[in-house]
Amino acid sequence: MSSLPPKKPTRQRLRNSRKRLTPPTNPEMHARKIAESAEAAWHGAYGTGRLDLPVSIIATLAALPRNDSQGNDVTDSMIECDTADFMAFARHTWTSVIRSRPEITHLVYPIISWIFDGTEASVYQHAHAVAQAALRAGQPDLTGTDRRFDTDLLGNVLTILRPKSALQARGQFYTPASIAELLARMSDVEEHRIVEDPMMGTGGMFRAVAEVMREQGRDPRTVRWVGCDIDPIAVACAAVNSMIWGLGHDIVFHAGNALTPDWEAGALAQRDELRRLATDIERDKRMIALLM
Ligand SMILES: C[S@@+](CC[C@H](N)C(=O)[O-])C[C@H]1O[C@@H](n2cnc3c(N)ncnc32)[C@H](O)[C@@H]1O
Repeated sequence: MSSLPPKKPTRQRLRNSRKRLTPPTNPEMHARKIAESAEAAWHGAYGTGRLDLPVSIIATLAALPRNDSQGNDVTDSMIECDTADFMAFARHTWTSVIRSRPEITHLVYPIISWIFDGTEASVYQHAHAVAQAALRAGQPDLTGTDRRFDTDLLGNVLTILRPKSALQARGQFYTPASIAELLARMSDVEEHRIVEDPMMGTGGMFRAVAEVMREQGRDPRTVRWVGCDIDPIAVACAAVNSMIWGLGHDIVFHAGNALTPDWEAGALAQRDELRRLATDIERDKRMIALLM
């Protein structure tokens, strides 16, 4: 987060940084470690339920680079933040995301609404405890670097947080990265194509396709990514993942039943309508500013 002022190395800061874990070098293992740390902090502090909160915290921290514009390690300054600072950072992050990508607002809404709605102060404290745990597990070393392309951190978080019985009932077992990559290699996707997964989960197949495209010198941002899932939290994760993995702006995602006819056309129309609305609002704001 480059907007944070660099902080002097206080004794407290040194104590905090000593508490940081050494992250695994393998991105898959690192993602698992972060997810386990977040899960332990969430269940330790809050108990069960409210999956949207811990998922949202990990999604928020994904906006952090590893180092700020002066080259300072961002993790240390973030660990020092108190709950109010952290929540201000979360609000600022999502306001910027919605301004720059208005067409994904409805997709991420299920995991970010609590950040803007009034909620009990204790919930913010529990959310902050999850952030501290993820920071100590070195999340910015993963999501703040190119290693973010190599794994599905949010998919790991969702899988670890959901009780096994719920995962079984929903059939939510995501394709392992190695198998997804094998399938992606076999598909040999070229630029400017449409890639569709009607039961996308958190979008792991899209990650694998994008990774293989990059290896082959192709730009995944030229692709239209079309995805659906019946689980709105998984869809919110897929939308955030599309930014983490650099999939570009041609995202057509839908939270709903893929067996519904024309879900794809509906999702496309909704996306274009949101873009139009955002453009109109910006134009009206500029006109009002001129008249003032
Ligand atoms: C086995 S997972 C596969 C996820 C992803 N395609 C992958 O390979 O990792 C199946 C997904 O389908 C979703 N699902 C089940 N029934 C669905 C339906 N009728 N419409 C849309 N999604 C559905 C579940 O929520 C789950 O995320």
